[in-house]
Amino acid sequence: MSVSTLALNDGSQVPWMAFGTGTALYRKDAEDAIRLAIDNGFTHLDGAQVYANEDSMGQGIVASGKSRSELFITTKLTALKPGATPKSALEESLKKLKVDYVDLYLIHQANDHVGKLKEVWKGMEEAQKAGLTKSIGVSNFTADHLNDILEIATVPPAVNQASCRESYDGVEAHPYVWKALQANLAIHKQYKIVTSSYGGLSPIFRAQGGPLDPVVEKIRVRLETTRGSPVSDGQVLNKWLQQNGVLVVTTSSKAERIREYLDTQNVPELTADELALIETAGGQLHKRFFVSSDLNG
Ligand SMILES: NC(=O)c1ccc[n+]([C@@H]2O[C@H](COP(=O)([O-])OP(=O)(O)OC[C@H]3O[C@@H](n4cnc5c(N)ncnc54)[C@H](OP(=O)(O)O)[C@@H]3O)[C@@H](O)[C@H]2O)c1
Repeated sequence: MSVSTLALNDGSQVPWMAFGTGTALYRKDAEDAIRLAIDNGFTHLDGAQVYANEDSMGQGIVASGKSRSELFITTKLTALKPGATPKSALEESLKKLKVDYVDLYLIHQANDHVGKLKEVWKGMEEAQKAGLTKSIGVSNFTADHLNDILEIATVPPAVNQASCRESYDGVEAHPYVWKALQANLAIHKQYKIVTSSYGGLSPIFRAQGGPLDPVVEKIRVRLETTRGSPVSDGQVLNKWLQQNGVLVVTTSSKAERIREYLDTQNVPELTADELALIETAGGQLHKRFFVSSDLNG
């Protein structure tokens, strides 16, 4: 089963679901996890310089035996060392990842580059022009950060991996923050920037007992009846994200759950009423789960 894709504003396609090497794998060896993810069907792998595991991510990629063209690899720029540029930082990442290019290179957080965002975005464009990355984008960017770089951008960001910083106006991409995400979503729509989520499953296992629970359960039962085979709560939330055009970044240590995540694309669609029910229930509670110290996750 091939993973369905989303169109980027630069003409590329991105698999709609990615396996991340942050959070649970942050600063840990990622080889086995990457192997497990690839062996069970993931083709989009989401890494970052600050996760300090690009090397083992690269080992997992090599060990998988997949050809480069079968995979979509993302990494993220962290704070620049003195004298470094986004391009030179990516060259280091490519060595660790053991590939010639990545598919997507994101600025991990605007706050790593205070007062220099425009310059750093120009550096991202240089890295793309040099062929080191197919697409460029951002992460944890608020509407203000986006507007800042859009003033000078020749290439607009292709993706914004959703921010969830306490001190920002922004966002985590799940129903309990969907309302707060609206300022970002308006800019994303204008520039055709794909919204990417992390922490998307937070409402069901980081915040049980909230207003979403009965809604997700009701929809899950309806989908299961329609499908005639099991549907999980996580699949309901991930389907909701997919139908909102969101690129989902998730992770798991378990083969069974990895297959369940990817099986989301086979779950029947939520109706317009069901999509709205999730949004309404999510809007009754504003809850963020990642604070600034978690952003590197
Ligand atoms: N750009 C950024 O600043 C940033 C920040 C944070 C994360 N990320 C990226 O996003 C990726 C995913 O992050 P995330 O952890 O927030 O993803 P998530 O999809 O919200 O959660 C995945 C985690 O949830 C657990 N899980 C899934 N279903 C569960 C259930 N029913 N009950 C209990 N636990 C369950 C999984 O554990 P099991 O191992 O048990 O399946 C896994 O550890 C990271 O690896 C990273 O690549 C980026």
